[in-house]
Amino acid sequence: MDHENLRTVDPAVADALAGERTRQEETLAMIASENHVSEAVLEAQGSVLTNKYAEGYPGARYYAGCEYADEVEVLAVERAMELWGAEHVNVQPHSGTQANQAVYFAALDPGDKILSLELNHGGHLSHGHPANFTGQVYEVEQYQVDPETGYIDYEGLHEIAEEFDPDIIVSGYSAYPRTVDWERIQDAAEAVDAYHLADIAHITGLVAAGVHPSPVGVADFVTGSTHKTIRAGRGGIVMCDEEHADDIDKAVFPGGQGGPLMHNVAGKAVGFKEALEPEFDEYARQVVDNARVLGDTLADHGLSLVSGGTDNHLVLVDLRESHPDLSGGDAEDALAAANVVLNGNTVPGETRSPFDPSGIRAGTAGLTTRGFDEDAMREVGDLIHRVVDATAAGDHEDVVYEVGERVVELCGEYPLYER
Ligand SMILES: Cc1ncc(COP(=O)(O)O)c(C=O)c1O
Repeated sequence: MDHENLRTVDPAVADALAGERTRQEETLAMIASENHVSEAVLEAQGSVLTNKYAEGYPGARYYAGCEYADEVEVLAVERAMELWGAEHVNVQPHSGTQANQAVYFAALDPGDKILSLELNHGGHLSHGHPANFTGQVYEVEQYQVDPETGYIDYEGLHEIAEEFDPDIIVSGYSAYPRTVDWERIQDAAEAVDAYHLADIAHITGLVAAGVHPSPVGVADFVTGSTHKTIRAGRGGIVMCDEEHADDIDKAVFPGGQGGPLMHNVAGKAVGFKEALEPEFDEYARQVVDNARVLGDTLADHGLSLVSGGTDNHLVLVDLRESHPDLSGGDAEDALAAANVVLNGNTVPGETRSPFDPSGIRAGTAGLTTRGFDEDAMREVGDLIHRVVDATAAGDHEDVVYEVGERVVELCGEYPLYER
């Protein structure tokens, strides 16, 4: 990864990439949607396939010269089918959001009704937020998590579905630390004759490894990002039964996209191959074990976790109880200065704003890729708590410095890429 040609042609970009690489090496990537792909995935993504136009699908392209693009896409599709057990897979969506867009385009007409989880309760912009096209093209109603438990309020969802009569119910979340009961949501969808879209963007890897139940075969449509816990090339994916295959393919192309990003499709194929190895299942189990230890450590220090813990790769801390005067944004900034990169996040019953929320969200996929185990995660939890506590006390400069130094040391013990 010395980028010799790039350095000659464009030293400014080469410097930025070198900086980014050092940043990733020397900080803890705990943004729950991030991970570190392998060098093999990086090579596939940085390959000559970026030059190729391959509109259409394998064997039926609009351009000549697609024989290798076809090989790569078929591999990506076959591997995805094996990983998730889906009857049909489209690997062309440019991202998880575009995968969702394809489902809406295939299943709904403008003005149809979406029922989804509120953003503050862990939902996603592409599930009907007013700032997203979904909030402008469709009529949207939202369900919530139970304010007492932090778990999805399945009964409430059922009731809202009966009243609102949606055309699609969206499950799958951005900041929800618990196992999702796909069947209960499917029951609610069937009761009102609605489609069910399960967006497993965050937990694609956990589902593939069997450490989270799968919605494939339960929901009508399953979408995901391919660069989060599944750790493949960057982009999105749609899965469905044969019955919806044509509609989905047409909705992806030409409905919503032009030429597929074939270099990314290659990165997906490579990452999926890696995820089919038994070591990936161990990795996914470790991701969850690490998140549990991180949550326990933070809770032992008196921090309050939404839902009281985690079943997946992330923890969501509500700072209001332990540190009422500290916002998630200020905690994020102080932690970033200490080389711990995570994000301030809204929490259920948010009393601040999305720009200065009351919580922080932390994921373990990236650190687990580096080899962090439970002991290392316990130390990371201690370090996070030290920074949060000192920042709330308004006296954090020394602590940020000390923690930052320790993080660089820790990162050196768990190197990311070969030099
Ligand atoms: C539930 C959910 N859906 C969709 C997305 C969008 O994914 P992408 O960034 O690949 O568009 C995210 C992003 O984190 C997400 O959490």
